[in-house]
Amino acid sequence: MQDLWDKTKVILVRLAHFQKRNRIKRYGLPLLLTIAVFLFKHYFHNFFGENSTFLLTSFLIVASSWYGGLGPGIFATALSALIVYFLFTKDFIMLTIFVLEGAIISIVSEARYEMENQKDEFIGFVSHELKNPLATIKGFAELTILNKKQANQQARTRTYGEQINIQSDRILELINDLLDITKIEIGKFTYKKDIFEIDDLVKEVVLHQKLITPNRTIQLIGSTKKTISADQYRIRQVIVNLLTNALKYSPDSQKVTIKLKRQRAAILVSISDHGLGISKDEQSRIFDRYYRTKNVQKKRSEGLGLGLYITNQIIKHHHGKIWIESQPGKGSTFYFSLPLKI
Ligand SMILES: Nc1ncnc2c1ncn2[C@@H]1O[C@H](COP(=O)(O)OP(=O)(O)O)[C@@H](O)[C@H]1O
Ligand SMILES: [Mg+2]
Repeated sequence: MQDLWDKTKVILVRLAHFQKRNRIKRYGLPLLLTIAVFLFKHYFHNFFGENSTFLLTSFLIVASSWYGGLGPGIFATALSALIVYFLFTKDFIMLTIFVLEGAIISIVSEARYEMENQKDEFIGFVSHELKNPLATIKGFAELTILNKKQANQQARTRTYGEQINIQSDRILELINDLLDITKIEIGKFTYKKDIFEIDDLVKEVVLHQKLITPNRTIQLIGSTKKTISADQYRIRQVIVNLLTNALKYSPDSQKVTIKLKRQRAAILVSISDHGLGISKDEQSRIFDRYYRTKNVQKKRSEGLGLGLYITNQIIKHHHGKIWIESQPGKGSTFYFSLPLKI
């Protein structure tokens, strides 16, 4: 029995992934199944009796909405109502209950269909994001090989090396985000407890960032002079995420400022830029998984929209707060606070 169920699952999964679902296939399935139910009822009527109509039409609705989403589910419900009307009952109340049941099944299945669709889109998107930096890396690696025979090769090789480094970092960031999100999903995103000075950590991140992006001005103001108890690796991740966002979403000519401040029972870190900014209605959504603002999507800058989701998870775990002040076209300030004692 288990074996049969496993095999059925494999077949169903294959069916769902069978090529891309277009409208003809999505709406074709309920039609085909309706014909199948009619034929089945016609030839096997005596074996199964009247009640099988309900079972068969319910299967029709589940299969159609599971494969095609809400539209095909409702379509299947309508077709099934016709079948029930002609083959089973003309009782109006029974029919209404049946249609309602079909509609509910379709709505519930829609969520699954949406998720599957998003996943497909996401895989395409990730592949695309990984492809661009890889192509650049390959290009510069080839140039480095060719460059061996040319004059002033040292300086050029260094430039190519820097480019290879920057592009590799981009890929690493994407892969790390993906790994983290997978860990969060399966509950394996673990935290350690370290005791460290937040000022030192911020200083270290800023110094490192200045090395990677020497053309950008990053200003560090203030100090907390406080030791906190938290996962140092994860808090570094938060600062790096916010800092790289500030740099990524503001012009090279503009500086980015990090401020450290001590509050009564917490430390406060803010990161400000003079960049794109985020509109009011999008501010509540940027912490959602995969969400990227419209102006950023238009610019085709790289990113998966995972950094802030992960950042928010980390801050929440540490009982801290994260929020934002921003004006489109003027810039954004991201704040996060962490309690001194957890
Ligand atoms: N400093 C910022 N200025 C403007 N928009 C920002 C800033 N930080 C984040 N955003 C917006 O929030 C979205 C989500 O950010 P994030 O989760 O880090 O994903 P990613 O940077 O990979 O797109 C970004 O795509 C961008 O639209
Ligand atoms: Mg980001």
